[in-house]
Amino acid sequence: MTAKNFELKNPNTGLTTSLPVRSGTIGPDVLDISNINRDQGVFSFDPAFGVTASCESKITYIDGDAGILLYRGYPVEELAEKSSFMEVAYLLLYGELPTVRQAQEFSASISRHTMINESLLRFFHGFHHNAHPMAMVSAVVASMSAFYHDSTDIHDPRHREIFAHRIVAKLPTIAAAAHKHSVGQPFVYPRNELAYCSNMLSMFFAVPCEDYEVNPVAAKALDLLFILHADHEQNASTSTVRLAGSTGTNPYAAISAGVAALWGPAHGGANEAVLAMLEQIGTVDNIPKYLAMAKDKSSHFRLMGFGHRVYKNFDPRAKIIREICHEVLAKLGRNDNPLFELALHLEEIALKDEYFVSRKLYPNVDFYSGIIYSALGIPRSMFTVMFAIARTVGWVAHWLEMIADPGMRIGRPRQLYTGAARRDYVPAALRKTA
Ligand code: ACO
Repeated sequence: MTAKNFELKNPNTGLTTSLPVRSGTIGPDVLDISNINRDQGVFSFDPAFGVTASCESKITYIDGDAGILLYRGYPVEELAEKSSFMEVAYLLLYGELPTVRQAQEFSASISRHTMINESLLRFFHGFHHNAHPMAMVSAVVASMSAFYHDSTDIHDPRHREIFAHRIVAKLPTIAAAAHKHSVGQPFVYPRNELAYCSNMLSMFFAVPCEDYEVNPVAAKALDLLFILHADHEQNASTSTVRLAGSTGTNPYAAISAGVAALWGPAHGGANEAVLAMLEQIGTVDNIPKYLAMAKDKSSHFRLMGFGHRVYKNFDPRAKIIREICHEVLAKLGRNDNPLFELALHLEEIALKDEYFVSRKLYPNVDFYSGIIYSALGIPRSMFTVMFAIARTVGWVAHWLEMIADPGMRIGRPRQLYTGAARRDYVPAALRKTA
């Protein structure tokens, strides 16, 4: 904390408050208003948390104007080029890059926790075959709290670590089970000799009647997408996990709340919506018509995969994904992908349009990721589940940071009440219709 202060004077009461200004390692200062109610008798009003820092965190930093994203200080571009998802998971969870031995032990521990209880597998039979996979994943993750309730003491650091390894390890297994249920195929058990993403592809695409060989290009592409999706500081789903977790609830239940929050089309669900939108647009000739709809406030149509609360510049993740789209599609022999061509045209045209330029609306992480997931054979309804697998690492890192903080308190926002003032109860016979 610095010695800087911000003087606030209420002209009606004459009361003056000195608000401490707090500085982070990098990024804008924040005004500490935690005593404003005690000193001035008012609350702050910031619906949708546009300018509110809800916590202190050491995990991820974003500079939305410069298009910078750092995990524990490391630029996401460098991690994407040189690291792996397992290494990034360790970095986010433990704060430092692992040594060779730490990396081996961590990967081994994750591999050992990949199986899920057989009873949990039977849960899937209760879902209709066309249930959305995010609904199944959210429900099954929540149900894990029933299996690990008595054995999870959130105040015990070792229990917290076991929880972290378990949920990171089991999310791909749960996701694959949801997929197999949707397509009516038998569940494929994890293969612990495979690396994280290879194992995920095997559980997704293997069938008991044939040998399945993981395509290394597909595994590498998935690993890269997972690195890019692993964390994004206090976004809607992470804040949901923190808020739910702040009550002391079972951590599996808190992660399930995060899955539910991610599902929405304004957040992680946009990757699914982008492909639907591109198919709807169909051809380059139709782009102007759909851009006009996106600009028309009465149409409720938005350009999915465009815009971001924090990035007012290129989302660095979208840039990387657009670059690797060319490479991955070529290596997989799908370089004549018409939806990718359409997406490139749409980006080009939108970024020359005054509406998008003046509002600083750029492609976000969801704009191109679906093109790669499709090329890997992952069905559209599973795209947001892929996001959830990767983001589980971030959710857990934030939950761990919050629970280990001795100053943690239950999250409890206030409100500006605009309902009826106090009034007396009127017996039914005397009530007048409005
Ligand atoms: N298409 C058309 N107009 C848009 C879009 C869009 N995709 N995004 C924002 N705008 C417009 C808004 O209508 C608003 O215009 P106005 O100033 O004339 O009223 C202005 O840009 C600011 O937009 P807000 O909605 O206030 O921005 P906010 O920060 O609340 O929303 C969000 C951010 C939800 C991402 C929004 O840009 C959006 O809906 N994008 C499409 C969905 C999407 O891609 N979501 C994924 C985000 S990344 C992630 O969560 C992983």
